[in-house]
Amino acid sequence: MKKIGILTGGGDCPGLNAVIRAIVRKASKKQWVTVGIRNGWKGLIQGDMVPLPDRSVSNILTKGGTILGTSRTNPFKQEGDIEKVIETIKRFELDAIIAIGGDDTLGVASKLYEMGVNVIGVPKTIDNDLSCTDFTFGFDTAVQIATEAIDRLHTTAESHHRVMVVEVMGRHAGWIATMAGIAGGADEILIPEQPFDIEKVCQNLRERYKTKKTFSIIVVSEGAKPLREDQFVTQSDETDEFGHVRLGGIGNFLGREIEKRMDVETRVTILGHIQRGGTPTAFDRILATRYGVAAFDLIDQEKYGLMPALQGNSIVPVSLKDAVAELKTVDNTLYEIAKVFFGK
Ligand code: F6P
Repeated sequence: MKKIGILTGGGDCPGLNAVIRAIVRKASKKQWVTVGIRNGWKGLIQGDMVPLPDRSVSNILTKGGTILGTSRTNPFKQEGDIEKVIETIKRFELDAIIAIGGDDTLGVASKLYEMGVNVIGVPKTIDNDLSCTDFTFGFDTAVQIATEAIDRLHTTAESHHRVMVVEVMGRHAGWIATMAGIAGGADEILIPEQPFDIEKVCQNLRERYKTKKTFSIIVVSEGAKPLREDQFVTQSDETDEFGHVRLGGIGNFLGREIEKRMDVETRVTILGHIQRGGTPTAFDRILATRYGVAAFDLIDQEKYGLMPALQGNSIVPVSLKDAVAELKTVDNTLYEIAKVFFGK
């Protein structure tokens, strides 16, 4: 009988439990044993495991978060940790590991594969910035939540004749802002890929006022920067084990600048972790389930160092190394579509 260890790493997102459920159910049909590794790579450093028999995954399909817990632990950061990871894999007799995560978690998976560990990755992140896949699971839910928020802000913006700034997640890529902005009819979308000129933003708003539109909605990614500014707006300078600072605050910066330059009341909403919580959309549940089954199938075929990816409507294996080589940023054609609705 063979054994698979499953872990979830990095920021949580809706759909993680759907992947875990799919792996466990498919594995049990093939008489494989599944165990959960608690709190991402930290669980492999500490030898923190939990049995995951078939029935343990009942009733988790619709639940947000992860039943395994997660962390931003990087086992390559502290001396000696990676040796502990290898030792735990041997001690618990794990034949293969499935790591569900974004670029940080899968970057570790890719390195472990090069060291001889049998690893498969599953692409997760609300940011949708992993290469080689059209969509990561969790992203659709985040876009849905952000779109609903924009819809609600529209009615209050219109009643009070205000500018509403909505700050959404998206560290290096503005996928959530662009997609939710298009879906919600935003009048300006600011993303990390396109540094913005605050004067040009105000000019677009003034043009709207000339056409008797007395309110505007601006969607901004947390990682967006003004022109000639190379620092992010952050909540703290502390970095996690992968070197990321905690972003947040660009919305407030924008709100202040707009009020300074224009005679118009402005309010700022920061959506934050609301975008990561709660029930996954049907799209994400299905995608997560397809990824989970495909991840098990790759292990069953003894193919490692891979990640099931969505390309078009097919799930195809891609190499982990390629998936983490560079971030997938917003494609310009899509942003050009969003821009049609800026200004008058
Ligand atoms: O990587 C996903 C993400 O949601 C980013 O968009 C955001 O910057 C970060 O996680 C926030 O992470 P934390 O949960 O550590 O605050």
